[in-house]
Amino acid sequence: MRLLLSFILLAASISLAHATTDDTLEVVVAGKSRAFTRAELEQALTSHTLTVDDPDHDRPVTYDAFALNDVLKLAGADPAHGDELVFGARDGYAPTVAHALLASHGAYLAYREHGQAQDWSPVKQGKAMVSPAPYFLLWAQGKTLGAEFPWPYQLIRIEVVDFATKYAALYPRDVASDAAPMHGFKTFKTHCLRCHSVNLQGGELGPELNVPKNVTEYWDAQHLRAFIHDAGAYHAHSKMPSFVGVLTDADIENLVAYLALMKTRKLAQP
Ligand code: HEC
Repeated sequence: MRLLLSFILLAASISLAHATTDDTLEVVVAGKSRAFTRAELEQALTSHTLTVDDPDHDRPVTYDAFALNDVLKLAGADPAHGDELVFGARDGYAPTVAHALLASHGAYLAYREHGQAQDWSPVKQGKAMVSPAPYFLLWAQGKTLGAEFPWPYQLIRIEVVDFATKYAALYPRDVASDAAPMHGFKTFKTHCLRCHSVNLQGGELGPELNVPKNVTEYWDAQHLRAFIHDAGAYHAHSKMPSFVGVLTDADIENLVAYLALMKTRKLAQP
């Protein structure tokens, strides 16, 4: 009942906020959604003033911002859990960031351009100039960081995703974080999951890779590595993209280690 009530309140606050100037941030942790207005965040959290080399402006800009980990903690997140953060921008753009990168690289949620009461310097979106409000993700180290560090603006949602829970059937449980199958799993998640399932979890464009037979049971290791590298060298008109220049030999070695491990962890067959 209490849960139901809070859902109703949340739904009401979201629709209300849409009608006015909306600075509501939805934070989803372990499937539970909470909404915060900027006033609530300002009241609960320490504000930091940072000057960063902003890739959207090509000049240093000073922002008032919250440490992203503080925002997540406020929503009940345990920094040790949740492998990945999924950000949600107003236009549907949804980049993800590995949770571990937050602390090591200083991730902040900017809520105001310093010294500006209302307005932010607009940023380019296609041909238009738009305000980055209500929030955007910034990295204290500036724009020299690579593609793993997106700077999405117009943020309205952050979700902490725990892969072990969300993808329980294909997650390599109890495998050390630096072991080959775990590296392989991460590569699988980034490059393969959108098309392939393992234990029937994942994309459906390509075949299931573990049940009833695991690919390592009927492909020899050498051909399997070569196929993953460049499926077009085996099947004309393959719908599987080439990974030449994308994945290294070590990446593919780790992928095969992950697939081979899953052979011993098949979904119980009916
Ligand atoms: C865009 C979708 C797509 C992506 C991404 C993709 N694949 Fe595929 N894959 C396919 C399709 C479609 C097939 C079946 C057609 C074929 O064999 O050429 C396939 C076939 C395979 C096979 C052969 C299965 C069998 O039983 O013969 C393996 C192994 C495989 N993919 C592994 C991978 C791995 C590993 C990755 C990630 C590095 C990956 N694929 C990424 C679409 C994809």
